[in-house]
Amino acid sequence: MIQFDNVSKKYPLGNSALEDAAFFIDKQEFVFFVGPSGAGKTTILKLILKQINPSSGSIFVNDVDIADKKFHDTLKLRRSIGMIFQDFKILFDRNVFENVALSLEIASAGKNSIKKEVEEALSTVGIIDKKLMFPVQLSAGELQRVAIARAIVGGQDIILGDEPTGNLDPKTSWDIMKIFKKLESDKTILIATHNVDIVNSFKKRVITLDGGKITADEKKGGYHL
Ligand SMILES: Nc1ncnc2c1ncn2[C@@H]1O[C@H](COP(=O)(O)OP(=O)(O)OP(=O)(O)O)[C@@H](O)[C@H]1O
Ligand SMILES: [Mg+2]
Repeated sequence: MIQFDNVSKKYPLGNSALEDAAFFIDKQEFVFFVGPSGAGKTTILKLILKQINPSSGSIFVNDVDIADKKFHDTLKLRRSIGMIFQDFKILFDRNVFENVALSLEIASAGKNSIKKEVEEALSTVGIIDKKLMFPVQLSAGELQRVAIARAIVGGQDIILGDEPTGNLDPKTSWDIMKIFKKLESDKTILIATHNVDIVNSFKKRVITLDGGKITADEKKGGYHL
């Protein structure tokens, strides 16, 4: 679960990026964050990852107030979150398997369990046959599949996507969104996006932001231009 209680964020040199944001997202909910550029979508995702801290308010991730904790005391919690970016952030000197295995290696998992978990994640996203290929040999859609595999490989129960289809053509965007749909049965999924068609056809919860303020929070909502 993720809960924001009156969360505001003012960047040191910026204006107010988020003002009094409040919402509760339950386990296994699927939520889109929409709104014009600069609305505060990425700021919300960064706050959940504790990449930044709020200026005021409380942020609960799985019942823990992360705003109240030191960064190094939130490691376990942050490991339960998988993040996917618009530009994939794949390491180009490692093959597909190695990219997905990295976080498990850092967490000192055993070799056999790493192999099992990586192969499972690659099967889920449909690129097990590409496991030994290098990023330069993959299409953008395939790179995003690698990024999703990396985000789910440790059994993370919260998945954040920051414009995960922003660099993809319409057909590939749908294929990627179908993967997220497949994951929703046992994960909490938050996706920031400008993709009007996908938001409107998914009929999921939509939280709309504008200028740092939540202007709508609708079950089975849409992207109102
Ligand atoms: N590091 C920073 N320093 C100062 N201001 C920032 C910083 N990061 C973001 N902002 C400002 O905070 C506001 C919200 O930015 P944010 O990145 O959350 O928007 P967004 O909704 O993700 O936009 P986009 O759709 O373009 O990705 C913007 O006005 C932005 O300029
Ligand atoms: Mg953004």
